[in-house]
Amino acid sequence: MNTLLKDKNILIMGVANKWSIAWAIAKSFHQARAKLAFTYLGEKTKKSIEKLMAEEDMNSALLIPCDVTKDEEIENSFNILKDEFGKLDGVVHSIAHAKKEELEGLYLNTSREGYAMAQDISAYSLVAVTKYAKPLMNEGGSIVTLTYLGGERVIKNYNVMGVAKAALEASVKYLATDLGKENIRVNAISAGPIKTLAAKGIKNFGSLLKQFEEKVPMGRLVETEEVANTAVFLCSGLSSGITGEVIHVDGGYNILGY
Ligand SMILES: NC(=O)c1ccc[n+]([C@@H]2O[C@H](COP(=O)([O-])OP(=O)(O)OC[C@H]3O[C@@H](n4cnc5c(N)ncnc54)[C@H](O)[C@@H]3O)[C@@H](O)[C@H]2O)c1
Repeated sequence: MNTLLKDKNILIMGVANKWSIAWAIAKSFHQARAKLAFTYLGEKTKKSIEKLMAEEDMNSALLIPCDVTKDEEIENSFNILKDEFGKLDGVVHSIAHAKKEELEGLYLNTSREGYAMAQDISAYSLVAVTKYAKPLMNEGGSIVTLTYLGGERVIKNYNVMGVAKAALEASVKYLATDLGKENIRVNAISAGPIKTLAAKGIKNFGSLLKQFEEKVPMGRLVETEEVANTAVFLCSGLSSGITGEVIHVDGGYNILGY
């Protein structure tokens, strides 16, 4: 237990199940004494989050439905947060989606529709969420999103999602610049590969993990808790001078040139 996030109201977007990176973040934030709200996609996910919340004694957390492709749902979520919390100190955006068939084969074959969908859900949603979060962050705030090395380098089969992550990382820099003077910081965590529902959609994810483990400087996979602890740091006062950054939590994999 620590008090790094005591008195901070934080919205976590993107818990699907117990393997979600966002769930590891929620647990670490709860331990750091944050007051939490979650958005979820679909009734099935709501039930799964409720079960997880009960296990961790988080029953007082708010649960709000939000499909990020719908502006009115994003707006409604932040209206609820305004009524319930008044002010907001942090948002964790841990959301991405692409069609399964776009996550294999040649990037060249990406469809117009698949490209637009990946960009909308995985990159534009950060812009929309930040826009609605801003008025609630009148005492400053921290927005954290999740990205992957496939946004910087070519990773086999990551394809359209890599291009969406590149847009997401560029958005982090533009948003950080727009909001810096209001003391709202925007950063991304570039996590090493972790077995989650979203990762399962990438063809041959198992061999990607194996190759990672063989080469990574730290010689092991990254734990979701390690990603979560970095999110705690980014939402706490300890990172008060950091914005517009992409922090790699990947055991050093990104530094390799071979
Ligand atoms: N797992 C990895 O290896 C890895 C590595 C680096 C970055 N990431 C990123 O971490 C983030 C979280 O992914 P995860 O691996 O925890 O998988 P996950 O499947 O648990 O989380 C993805 C979340 O996105 C949500 N989502 C999808 N479409 C949505 C929509 N239209 N509206 C609202 N929510 C929607 C899903 O409901 C789910 O909760 C993603 O941005 C992912 O790209 C994952």
